[in-house]
Amino acid sequence: MEGEPKPKQVTCYLLFSLGTAVIGSLQFGYNTGVINAPEQKLRAFFNNTWMERYGEPIEKGTCTFVWSLAVAIFSVGGMVGSFSVGVMANKFGRRKSMFIVNILALIGGGLMGLCTLCNSFEMVIAGRLVIGLFCGLFTSLTPMYVGELSPTPLRGAFGTLHQLGVVIGILVAQIFGLESLLGSDKLWPVLLSLTVLPAVVQCILLPFCPESPRFLLINLNEEEQARKALVRLRGVEDVSKDMQEMKEESMKMAMEKKVTIMELFRTANYRQPLLIAVMLQLSQQLSGINAVFYYSTGIFESAGVTKPIIATIGAGVVNTVFTVVSLFLVERAGRRTLHLIGLAGMSVSALMMTVALLLVCSHIILGSLSLTQYCYTVCQRSSLFYLSLSVQKHIKSLKYLSIAAVFAFVAFFELGPGPIPWFIVAELFSQGPRPAAMAVAGLSNWTANFLVGVSFPKLEELCGPYVFIIFMSFLILFFIFTYFRVPETKGRTFDEIAQGFSGAPRSSDPSGEAPPPRDSSTLSTSPVKEKV
Ligand code: GLC
Repeated sequence: MEGEPKPKQVTCYLLFSLGTAVIGSLQFGYNTGVINAPEQKLRAFFNNTWMERYGEPIEKGTCTFVWSLAVAIFSVGGMVGSFSVGVMANKFGRRKSMFIVNILALIGGGLMGLCTLCNSFEMVIAGRLVIGLFCGLFTSLTPMYVGELSPTPLRGAFGTLHQLGVVIGILVAQIFGLESLLGSDKLWPVLLSLTVLPAVVQCILLPFCPESPRFLLINLNEEEQARKALVRLRGVEDVSKDMQEMKEESMKMAMEKKVTIMELFRTANYRQPLLIAVMLQLSQQLSGINAVFYYSTGIFESAGVTKPIIATIGAGVVNTVFTVVSLFLVERAGRRTLHLIGLAGMSVSALMMTVALLLVCSHIILGSLSLTQYCYTVCQRSSLFYLSLSVQKHIKSLKYLSIAAVFAFVAFFELGPGPIPWFIVAELFSQGPRPAAMAVAGLSNWTANFLVGVSFPKLEELCGPYVFIIFMSFLILFFIFTYFRVPETKGRTFDEIAQGFSGAPRSSDPSGEAPPPRDSSTLSTSPVKEKV
């Protein structure tokens, strides 16, 4: 009935379709986390291959180079993949694109799985590149598909499913990577190639999922198909409200031309949401989260933790638990609030981590000083040494401080900066510019991911225990940006959000609490329509 609030329409079919798409997120997480555990096995394999080919052991520098390349080339693939998503998603649609992209998982997984048989470390590197391409495409395809299928009041909660898939993937990789499971001398190629299994499962399930109704209606103009898909997804015959909303969006864009990435930059109306999308992606990566996920074992070791692998898996568990917490909070607290809380909590945790590392360092220094030297130093140096004297007795609790700091860092990350940037891009843009915007946002995310990944070991060398201060500074900057520039998108239709950026009056404001976006753009160029 008109005017009556509609119940939230969650059907098994909707959950099945979203679950199938999220297998792609799981793949991204798995391939992010999988490379850490078998580092020594891979190095040994590089050495053996070298010996067989050239009759001498590989030089340490060359071995480290090959290893770094195998790690970093994944992000290079991710950059290219995420940037190509717009073309693909518009040409083949969301569902078919996901299907096709899985071919890359089969190729990449196959290359890595067969590397020992073929005695080729080049196959590991090539495999990581292809898998990076695959993951880059999925980091945009999944949030796009999920955002387009979800009912407006649950778009945030379902949007968080992408990140939930990622974190579960990381955790599974950490667990499977244990020496007693697949991280052994013999089985590590299986560990790396396991990614083909979810790819096959997803290919079997995808034909049972619908194409995105928004894509069907707005891009292909197939109204009946879109209606049918919506009826199944929502489980009700009357989908007129959804259809009406999509038609309005479609009509507004009908007279416009195709949005390319260049046009996205040139069009004044898109500048503000694009800046927000890119900054949120940067806030996710420059928070330093992957310094933890790529190098946590080393960080825990420097903090004196005796079983760093267990602590790393602990971080994976906290990561997963807090993503679930965010899933339940995001429709209540809103995206902006959670992102702000996350950034603030991460800065405090980064400070805590620095203090813990500093105290452990000063403890180690103290441990190596003679008593006279020590007394002299205590008198001469800063109060930190007095502090560390008493702290010496409590070195055990210090380890817990560093573990608590890392866990808090990860937990706050998952409240906001983890899940929100991935799905908010799909919310900030209407159907026409969405794929291009996702491509630009994805590229920014992967580039920052790459930079943190390659530079962290060097930064750690240069800054020692102060290294997390760098991330803390970034976090504070992103907090300020989010506070002043990011609007609340909770409960708004795509069209209402887009109108907010074009400066036009909004038709409604269901959340009742969202601040108007501070938009300096003019109305000179209106949103543009994607033609297929
Ligand atoms: C996000 C990031 C990814 C990171 C993960 C950790 O998905 O994009 O780079 O590894 O969160 O949970």
